[in-house]
Amino acid sequence: MSQKSWWPNSAIYQVYPRSFQDSNGDGEGDLRGVLARVEYLKSLGVDAVWLSPFYKSPNRDGGYDVADPRDVDPRFGNLDDAKALIEGIHKVGLRIIVDIVPNHFSTDHPWFQEALSSPIGSAARARFHFYDGRGENGEIPPNNWNSIFGGPAWSRTTDKDGRPGQWYLHLFDSTQADLNWENSDVHQDFERTLRFWLDLGVDGFRIDVAHGLAKETILKDHHDPEALTRALRLDVTDMPDSQRAELLSDVPFFDREGVHEIYRSWRKIFDSYPGERISVAEAWVHPSSRAARYVRSDELHQIFNFDFLVAPWSAATLIPAIKRTLLEVAEVSAPPTWVLSNHDSPRLVTRLGGGEDGEWRARAFAQLTHALPGGIYIFQGEELGLSDGELADEVRQDPIFFRTQGRDKGRDGARIPLPWDSSNNFGFTNGKPWLPIPSQWSSKRVIEQDEDSNSSLNFYRESLRIRSEHPALKGSSDYRINWLDAPDGVIAFERHPGFTLFANTTSRELKLVAPPGVSLLLGSRPGVRLEGERLTLPGDSTCWLTKLK
Ligand code: BGC
Repeated sequence: MSQKSWWPNSAIYQVYPRSFQDSNGDGEGDLRGVLARVEYLKSLGVDAVWLSPFYKSPNRDGGYDVADPRDVDPRFGNLDDAKALIEGIHKVGLRIIVDIVPNHFSTDHPWFQEALSSPIGSAARARFHFYDGRGENGEIPPNNWNSIFGGPAWSRTTDKDGRPGQWYLHLFDSTQADLNWENSDVHQDFERTLRFWLDLGVDGFRIDVAHGLAKETILKDHHDPEALTRALRLDVTDMPDSQRAELLSDVPFFDREGVHEIYRSWRKIFDSYPGERISVAEAWVHPSSRAARYVRSDELHQIFNFDFLVAPWSAATLIPAIKRTLLEVAEVSAPPTWVLSNHDSPRLVTRLGGGEDGEWRARAFAQLTHALPGGIYIFQGEELGLSDGELADEVRQDPIFFRTQGRDKGRDGARIPLPWDSSNNFGFTNGKPWLPIPSQWSSKRVIEQDEDSNSSLNFYRESLRIRSEHPALKGSSDYRINWLDAPDGVIAFERHPGFTLFANTTSRELKLVAPPGVSLLLGSRPGVRLEGERLTLPGDSTCWLTKLK
């Protein structure tokens, strides 16, 4: 890591292109739309933008079902638009990261189509996981694994003569066929894709399901597939921690040793390009100490730390989570990361209880996160204090909703398009938005929040500005923090030089004693006050203090 590395402490903003800005009136966001908003992105004070997939795709899983990773889906524009966007983002001094989806291809990908029309045992089938079924007529899937999205992880093909054929593996939707990473075509094709986007100037990749590429012997049943599926689902909360930990410590399709070989070879590609091209792994691994293995110095740059994505706003949970994270990454000298929301989870305000209380908690949580060492990721709309929109089942599109027969409502609520201004459909589109934008969002529009110095948007801007300027927070490669004694429910620490944080995770106002000689830098809500050394912290609030003039 060089002295001037741009990424270890970066703030990276996630754009979900389908819901950011539509430029052609088809009701779905596109790359030209993102380009039209680059000044907005710049105004946030982030260092980089990460774009969720915009590649050619039948869009059965929000574009995470890629049919051509080296082309743009017409719904998002074309390759020239992608080039213009990369240039436009660079022009305002930001970096751009794109998604890469190596665990699976869409069943619309020409490789899968070729596999379907090729015989059993052919080279075309060897790029995926095709197997004969078990039972007298091959009617039982090759193993008993379940899809993460619900239902079985196998679908049966139909042969040319109309008879049932082999089965193929899909850990997610049946239109997302898992790739076989023991096949050299797969390695070569992904290297081509990495180079394709690196040549176009992207600054890095977010690696989807990074822990999934290598699989354990496939023709072996799991001893309890139903329990494993429940253990993998974050919304299942009634499973004892010890049972969950045991199940997750040995998942036959996640976090197998083979993935690291792949990332070591990718790292060589990133390092062969000028500038620092980075990678961040989306890898849910257990126990969390396994995460550090992905960011060893010859592997990836960052791994998302999802502790905060699921944590309640509670000092009792957050303090040990922060301590553990800092210890784990320190062992491999990698910078930690922090994530409060993304396109796969309920929005932060909703998760923290919704309503006004949820909004204040979300601000306090963000301000805590922005003061921690390492990199942060911000999901579009988090800065606006949006909550999940209510949606009628008829408009839902997430495959999770369909594969669980509606038992799980899925992730659409967090993917509703952004409210910009007072024109048609909140300025998102001239057409019909692909998901309806709640009418209550009129108070959340960017145009209103821009004008209001107390808005969530301006709070984020201020917090990110201070984060990038204060010597204790900006660009420090010192990932230690100095914990202070504090009452129950309060998080308190110092960072060198001259920075102190107090976060009150209780709902009661608290009076605390501040260190001598500090002044108030930022409070997450009105009512945070410093009088001499008497610090007043309303319920659910965070404050930053500085000793520097
Ligand atoms: C992405 C999801 C996607 C899944 C399958 C993930 O973890 O973030 O949105 O559905 O991978 O590609």
